[in-house]
Amino acid sequence: MAEPGTGESGGDAAAAGQGTPALGVLVSGRGSNLRAILDAIERRELAARVGIVISSRTGVPALDIAAAHDIPTRVIAPRDYPSRAEEGAAIVAALRGAGVELVVLAGYARIFDPSVVRAYPHHILNIHPSLLPAFAGGMAPKPQADALAAGVKLSGCTVHFVTDEVDAGPIVAQAVVPVLDDDTVERLAERILAAEHRLLPEAIRRVLEGHPRVEGRRVLFDQG
Ligand code: GAR
Repeated sequence: MAEPGTGESGGDAAAAGQGTPALGVLVSGRGSNLRAILDAIERRELAARVGIVISSRTGVPALDIAAAHDIPTRVIAPRDYPSRAEEGAAIVAALRGAGVELVVLAGYARIFDPSVVRAYPHHILNIHPSLLPAFAGGMAPKPQADALAAGVKLSGCTVHFVTDEVDAGPIVAQAVVPVLDDDTVERLAERILAAEHRLLPEAIRRVLEGHPRVEGRRVLFDQG
């Protein structure tokens, strides 16, 4: 990995140093995927650090999780910016200020201005609670509810690179879970979430260590 965002490798980023790649995690709510990333780092399964957590909402549990780990936080809420472009510029500035190499959307309920995607091409991961390209779009629990209503027998979660097209970027990793006859949306969402907590840290590790290359819609790894 490396490159995007590290063009400005001086300042805060270099000072923070530590030699491990910095993640920028964007959240909007509960933060259980943020916690899964932090747990994987603590267990030394993921050689990275979280350099900043950016939330689109104030007062959400994800911010408390970040604070409890002494991770710098920023709230960049749409209502504070006159346009999506300015909101995007604030996000890019915050990420660059923290020396972020890889951006992770972990329950982030906003769609980026294209300038953010351009600043971190193929360096932004999103986790979505369905087997994309099925049930794209919308925030949890909509994709899970749509899967249940469609009668599929298998569902799961997908980690993909973010492009300008929502939930349509090249797929990095997926995990499958069964849909059971007595499932409710909540039970299915819970089963998918448990898979997310395993998949997301592992996908981050592969992207950081595996030299991914994107060919068309496919993500191929040299190693890892
Ligand atoms: C997760 O299920 C994630 O896949 C989903 O939001 C939840 C966030 O939970 N993301 C989307 O729906 C994106 N379209 P968390 O805040 O506990 O990590």
